[in-house]
Amino acid sequence: MELSHRSTQFSTIMQGAKKDLRDLLNIPENYDILFLQGGGTGQFSAVPMNLCTTTGSVADYLITGSWSAKATKEGEKYCRVNKALPSSNAYNGIPDQSTWNLSPDAKYVYFCANETIHGVEFNFIPETGDVPIVTDMSSNILTKPVDVSKYGIIFAGAQKNIGIAGATVVIIRDDLVGHAVPFCPSILDYKLNLQNNSVYNTPSTFSIYIMDLVFKWIKKQGGAEAMGEKSQVKSKLIYDVIDSSSGFYYSSVFPKDRSRVNIPFRIGGSEGSEYLEKKFLDEAHKRGMVSLKGHSLSVLPVTKVISVLLK
Ligand SMILES: Cc1ncc(COP(=O)(O)O)c(C=O)c1O
Repeated sequence: MELSHRSTQFSTIMQGAKKDLRDLLNIPENYDILFLQGGGTGQFSAVPMNLCTTTGSVADYLITGSWSAKATKEGEKYCRVNKALPSSNAYNGIPDQSTWNLSPDAKYVYFCANETIHGVEFNFIPETGDVPIVTDMSSNILTKPVDVSKYGIIFAGAQKNIGIAGATVVIIRDDLVGHAVPFCPSILDYKLNLQNNSVYNTPSTFSIYIMDLVFKWIKKQGGAEAMGEKSQVKSKLIYDVIDSSSGFYYSSVFPKDRSRVNIPFRIGGSEGSEYLEKKFLDEAHKRGMVSLKGHSLSVLPVTKVISVLLK
């Protein structure tokens, strides 16, 4: 934990982690990998500050839950945001793409690949023509194979699926590097960080070390394909119980958009019963299943890969 971030030893760890990630996601040569700090939230600002470089730049945001809503709010500080989904959209699914209002001159189309709180996951890649896609994979990176070549930027905080809090992974197509606005803080400037090999300032060294171990573990499991199969099996177990419970367990997400990673549900019908939900959590706790309680709207018996990985 005391290794200098500029030491040969740490450099070997970092390069190893980047190579493993490249192998695991088949990241093409024209994409760079950065290990930054600031979490997913830092990227909510970094993305518009690096891509919305001209006055009046427009960016399309697909808001499908609270994380994309937060990213949109941040984006509004730096560019003209077009909320491209119909305003009637609730956080229980993804409206058909025929109803979206994408801007032809957008600098990027943004969405959250898996809404961690609302349990809505994209199981398709939107059609955006030449407009680069930016996606937040904080809660489903490496839970299935991904065609990276279809994206402009993929980012993810490490703490859910690939390690512990601290490091943030950014996978970026190289033509999108080098356009930051002059006021972009150095630690969020993709070009500066790339030129400095992700050590422009002290990176989260221990978090990167853990990521390296997790990547190696995922490789041993059979890679992203194997993780994808496992998360299908695990999530199906829970959805089958919900669906066969005659409404006792209740999920408000449309089945086609259900997350394989985070499954919010209520107990005792759509409103939930405080008594039953508390009893469920107490009984789960007795059986060694802790930390299932989600946000106030839901109970989240989440099959977060990290909690499964490290047991
Ligand atoms: C999908 C998603 N995006 C972004 C964030 C914010 O990440 P951070 O806390 O690393 O800023 C979270 C955190 O839970 C998340 O689940």
